[in-house]
Amino acid sequence: GLALLVGLLSLLLLELFRWNSSRSRSPPGPKPLPFVGNLPQFSKDHMGFIRSLPKYGEMCSIFLGRKPTIVLNNMQLAKEAFVQNGTVFSGRPLTPLQAWLTKGYGIILADYGHSWRQQRRFALHTLRDFGLGKKTVEERVAEEAHYLIKEMLKQEGKPFYPIHPIMNAVSNIICSIIFGDPFEYDDKRFAKLLQILNENIRFAGSTVAQIFHLVPIIKYFPGPHQKIRHNFEALKNFVFEIVEEHKKTLDPDNPRDFTDAYLIQMTKEESKEDTTFHLENMMNSVFDLFIAGTETTATTLRWGLIYMMDHPDVQERCHEEIIRVLGWDRSPCMEDRASLPYTYATVHEIQRYANVVPLSVVHETTEPTQLQGYHLPKGTMILPNLTAILADKEHWKYPDTFNPENFLDEKGQFCKNDFFLPFSLGPRVCLGENLARTELFIFFTSLLQRLKFSWPPGAPPANMDGLVGTVRSPFPFNTVCRSRETTH
Ligand code: HEM
Repeated sequence: GLALLVGLLSLLLLELFRWNSSRSRSPPGPKPLPFVGNLPQFSKDHMGFIRSLPKYGEMCSIFLGRKPTIVLNNMQLAKEAFVQNGTVFSGRPLTPLQAWLTKGYGIILADYGHSWRQQRRFALHTLRDFGLGKKTVEERVAEEAHYLIKEMLKQEGKPFYPIHPIMNAVSNIICSIIFGDPFEYDDKRFAKLLQILNENIRFAGSTVAQIFHLVPIIKYFPGPHQKIRHNFEALKNFVFEIVEEHKKTLDPDNPRDFTDAYLIQMTKEESKEDTTFHLENMMNSVFDLFIAGTETTATTLRWGLIYMMDHPDVQERCHEEIIRVLGWDRSPCMEDRASLPYTYATVHEIQRYANVVPLSVVHETTEPTQLQGYHLPKGTMILPNLTAILADKEHWKYPDTFNPENFLDEKGQFCKNDFFLPFSLGPRVCLGENLARTELFIFFTSLLQRLKFSWPPGAPPANMDGLVGTVRSPFPFNTVCRSRETTH
């Protein structure tokens, strides 16, 4: 008994010692507790915690597991690491949870290297090249915006929670790119797919996921993580089913969508021994494009509705500008940005203020390196603090409030700001940036052309920090929409 106690105590001491010595070699940061690090502070008030980080310096460390994670709190340092030293700072850690679920295939969670580079490049080209059938992406989004408006008007004048119609509209765009035919809003397979995505995203930000990092052995026990694993299997089957359907009608000279293009690439590279184009990578790339392409954009649009209801003056000015330029019937296209400076600035401000990926996605150093005089061993986890950059007091006119003037000059013309960094930076920069910008501008402009949004009478004020996982999303809320044409 005594031997066991002494053994346990020495293990504890060893752990404390290891942890203390890694702390003393890391940049300063909020005081961590033994074993759980900064998790309690982080879980208690995510945004408060993230906003407090710059006070420890440009570079600070936080403990979300046993190892420190280095946070870069300003633009200059983020550029120095992720752009000037991009090859060293663009790895991804394979956490126990990811190893268990995705094995590091695909794009988002793949480590820096051959497979990631090939999959990323292929996805970028395919996203860029695909006119969707005979339609451009812009036309496709405008068409989807019409369905969205119709769907919302079914609830005209009544409070409703807009998450489902928005999610459907946004995911239909990426669906058309990946799978060809968009789904009907009431397709059961689509509903199942959305449910899986939602559950997995919610899980990624949950306490169980954090616990998994600390004690991966829970994978052998029942719990919500088993459901997530089950979801991955269901998703795999879903993709395989679609692949089989595509194979039957594939015309190698006329790829219809991402799935066709991928199948063609797989055949092309069949004889190469080191090809990275195989079903496992395909499944994970599809999953990545889907998950990254839906949640972020749909969440930004939901925040956008909240800001419009909170700032009816901004909403009116956008609407007036849109009607002046487009009239009631013409759908917006990207070229209209130039003649809609106020609306374009508002879309930017929504993205800046919504800050939907507050700490981006964690990177890892691919080799030992130095930053600001600190030695960083290979495998050090690094986070760019996008929250700090998007609200940098020295570079924004109104860092802490929602105000489209942040993107307007004295003449009311749109003006760019280099600190607008919602898509992160360097070799890992969001690969869907163009698609996301197209979707946000066209969905937003179409909605405000036709509809007016307001809070239901007596609605409590929205919690502006929202729910923070990897993605920061608003808590459920109701909106009331009215057709502008009938109130006109
Ligand atoms: C990565 C933001 C929409 C696909 C990322 C990252 C951020 C981000 C911050 C992490 C970059 C890093 O590692 O530092 C956003 C925002 C969006 C959006 C704010 C919309 C408002 C999209 C869309 C797609 C997409 C529409 C796809 C079609 C991806 C992919 C990655 C990524 C595949 C991983 C890139 C890599 O690891 O190489 N995004 N994103 N995103 N995004 Fe987006």
